[in-house]
Amino acid sequence: MSEPPFRTVIEPFRIHSVEPMVMTTAEQRREAVRAAGFNLFQLPAQEVLIDLLTDSGTGAMSRDQWAAIQHGDESYAGSPSFFIFRDAVRDLFPFEHVIPTHQGRAAEKILFTVLGGPGKVVPNNTHFDTTRANVEFTGAEALDLVIAEAHDARSEHPFKGNMDIAALERLLQERGDDVPCVMVTVTNNSGGGQPVSLENLRAVRATCDAFGKLLFLDACRFAENAWFIRSREPGHGERDVADIVRELASLADGMTMSAKKDPLGNIGGWLALDDDELALHCRNLLILTEGFPTYGGLAGRDLEALAQGLREAVDHDYLRYRIRSTGYLGDALAQAGIPVVRPIGGHAVYIDARALLSHLDPLEYPGQALAIALYETGGVRSCEIGTVMFGRRPDGSERAAAMDLVRLAIPRRTYTQSHIDYVIEVCERVAARAGDLPGYRIVSEPPVLRHFTAEFEPVG
Ligand SMILES: Cc1ncc(COP(=O)(O)O)c(C=O)c1O
Repeated sequence: MSEPPFRTVIEPFRIHSVEPMVMTTAEQRREAVRAAGFNLFQLPAQEVLIDLLTDSGTGAMSRDQWAAIQHGDESYAGSPSFFIFRDAVRDLFPFEHVIPTHQGRAAEKILFTVLGGPGKVVPNNTHFDTTRANVEFTGAEALDLVIAEAHDARSEHPFKGNMDIAALERLLQERGDDVPCVMVTVTNNSGGGQPVSLENLRAVRATCDAFGKLLFLDACRFAENAWFIRSREPGHGERDVADIVRELASLADGMTMSAKKDPLGNIGGWLALDDDELALHCRNLLILTEGFPTYGGLAGRDLEALAQGLREAVDHDYLRYRIRSTGYLGDALAQAGIPVVRPIGGHAVYIDARALLSHLDPLEYPGQALAIALYETGGVRSCEIGTVMFGRRPDGSERAAAMDLVRLAIPRRTYTQSHIDYVIEVCERVAARAGDLPGYRIVSEPPVLRHFTAEFEPVG
């Protein structure tokens, strides 16, 4: 008879090398955030105690990844490190052509330079902001076709990243000639780190086949998505995650990747695809901006670290811990009565700042107000995903975003459970006086992507 599992899911690693954290006082943090124009992107990172700004490139590499770095071969052309990297990618994503890039957006830029252009439209469940920007930069339209449940923060739908198949069919019927490819983002970052089911991806594939369209995955969080399939989708509970990933890949014609996420790299990305002619165009562009096709903007040592990271990314003990530790934070906040987007996603917890700071108008930026309070109170850096990020329209007007969220993104293998317990305490303390938090106004902002550099001041 097998023993029941323990309640505590432990970090499946021991700490091997440590990085000191700088402890600061609330007074120092208030001064630091004021000096940063109340913009958390402008803070020097050493002023931050627990940095949950992003899970991108902020994870801890393993002993074996550091060892792999020593193995890096820096030959300009034909480095053995490239072939180790290519084979590790192909082991999970068996595409014919694997084209390394310095990060995900470079792969997007190359792909859409070839496939995009004025009059074209690219559907996705939800475009990540760099994907959208790269599509739009070519003059094409980036269209989000995620299922309706994705817009309801309280819906418990297990696969809120799913594509709305009926909407995709309608688009292909009405504007099929304008669609160069269909994209699906796994997990759906902009939609709360929510997964896509295998059933849904199979339906997207069938729709693409019916209309003769290419299907690309934006696969940054493929392992987290596959773990959700294993744990939530009937019939997959006994499968090896690597096998699920291979099935996801088998449904697509290609992929873009930011290796700063699930592949456990601090830098890197790739574009992979089967079509020879498309690959030829892409490699020509790669040489213009990234480098020769066997390094593409990365050092040989980076390629080696990624190859090892890919092997670790699909380890079940790691994924069980990873998904549980994000859920642990989200569940604790929900239990404390703090409104969070449900179900808890793979890489981040999203607090509904508009609900928590209901005394503020969206144009007083409740997400910004909450993010600043979390920093001032406990040195926790988070990211506003709301009206500051999305409120400015191309015509210069401003309107409330669909939601005002604060994202607590969890770097991989970086913080322990006691760090997360501390974050929970900080959130509880801020939530207890949420009604007293001031709103903010913008005092200066750039014409685009204002959230990175705008300066703010408290209202009143
Ligand atoms: C879903 C998704 N696609 C693409 C990217 C872009 O990747 P990179 O930051 O490596 O350019 C990101 C990064 O956050 C992402 O989350």
